[in-house]
Amino acid sequence: MATRRDFLAAGAAALPLRGEGNPAIEKAMQAVRAAIPRAESDPERPVYHFRPPAQWNNDPNGTIFHKGWHHLFYQHNPYAARWDHMHWGHARSRDLVNWEHLPIALWPSKEKGEDHVFSGGAIEGPDGRPRIFYTSIGQRAPEQWLALPKDDDLIEWEKYPGNPVLTVKHHGSYDVQDWRDPFLFREQGRVYMVCGGNFRYSGGRAAVQLYEAAGQDLTAWKHLGPVFEYRRREIANVECPNLFRLGNRWVLLISPHQPCEYFVGGLDLKGVRFVPETRGILDPGSSYASNISHDGKGRTILWLWGRTNTNPEKGWHNVMALPRLLSIDADGYLRQTPAPEFEMLRGPVSKVEGTALDNRSLPLGPGIAGDCLELEADFSSTSAVQMGLRARGVEIAFNPGGGHLSVGSVRTFLARDKNLKLRVFLDKRAIEVYANQGSAAVFTTVDAPPGRMDIEAFASGGAARLNSLQAWPLKPARFSLEGFHRGR
Ligand code: FRU
Repeated sequence: MATRRDFLAAGAAALPLRGEGNPAIEKAMQAVRAAIPRAESDPERPVYHFRPPAQWNNDPNGTIFHKGWHHLFYQHNPYAARWDHMHWGHARSRDLVNWEHLPIALWPSKEKGEDHVFSGGAIEGPDGRPRIFYTSIGQRAPEQWLALPKDDDLIEWEKYPGNPVLTVKHHGSYDVQDWRDPFLFREQGRVYMVCGGNFRYSGGRAAVQLYEAAGQDLTAWKHLGPVFEYRRREIANVECPNLFRLGNRWVLLISPHQPCEYFVGGLDLKGVRFVPETRGILDPGSSYASNISHDGKGRTILWLWGRTNTNPEKGWHNVMALPRLLSIDADGYLRQTPAPEFEMLRGPVSKVEGTALDNRSLPLGPGIAGDCLELEADFSSTSAVQMGLRARGVEIAFNPGGGHLSVGSVRTFLARDKNLKLRVFLDKRAIEVYANQGSAAVFTTVDAPPGRMDIEAFASGGAARLNSLQAWPLKPARFSLEGFHRGR
């Protein structure tokens, strides 16, 4: 007769027991539940940026649109509001705005020597159901593991018994360090994966490795080679690479331990070479670790971790940046605009008519004030050195002569221009700024005390005009906890 020890050896304890809960994950879910009241009572916590029920999140993982739902998984520590014990949290949304939290989808299989379930991606398998690929971390070299859903709602997952599906041995004589973060794409019927890391072969350069699935069940893989090397010595490795088609170009996003960068170019799959044509900073603020999904409307959606630098005592830490739609402009650079679905949160509009701003500030008064607000402003300069907005003490300033945009301490180059269009999303501790139809996008934090609500427009060093300004109070998004509490 099989003993309990036999079951443990076979890893049976790691399988979720339908209807009865699973002890490994119940403990983690309980830790999250216990932190919810603290997290929810913090007046600084964003209310329409995606956030877990409580505790820590970092990277968006396995973002996929499946059967009418946007699924978002994320790096999650259920036990504290700081990084550790990486699990995959899970939520789904019909509209990118309102979310249903679901039970934790993946957790470390301690009995198999797994300490963390690191970042990864999802792609549809041959049966039409998504597959998850992620980096398994333990007291050994990183490995890429596969997980399969047990239901169409993608609530319960089981790890493929034949894991790992990729090990460092796949690289033969190449030495790839810090190897992680699989991202998947399909091209002409074949399935490919990219992973980040450091490529010792070429003298320790950050590189993106390309793999091809040997068969449709995605369990066997072949290493094709480095598809991209980053020739900057100070960048040790790249994390979370995303390689995908956008219109008739290919886009590569990388997270190089500093603000994410993008490259738009061409992909030669046979020659295993991504050839960049343009390059830019995806977001110079405190976002990181991108992921991508494609929805049913032909849109390409960018997901980013939004770092909030919160005191872990508050029971929550970090959010996701607003989901952004990606496109390429006439010059071949990337554009990012917030999903228009967020307009559903708007309350009644307030407007400011065209006004001269000659070296002065214009307080927008009690009618346009708040910490949960969308602003749309259109400026033009005749001689101003700087013009823009100050929102809860965060200065959003553009200098028409130099073409620089700053948001608080974050600075980026936009383009020299007399005109400026800003869209600003204030959400308690988080602020996002989009300039000139998404040519620049910045996620950063607001350090003002919760009671500070003032907004003003300004021009300094000369004359400018505020052509128009509109403001909307934004309602909180819905984050349902029903599915999370119901458990597995
Ligand atoms: C990026 C990252 C990934 C890794 C994950 C671990 O923020 O460091 O490279 O998979 O976070 O949580």
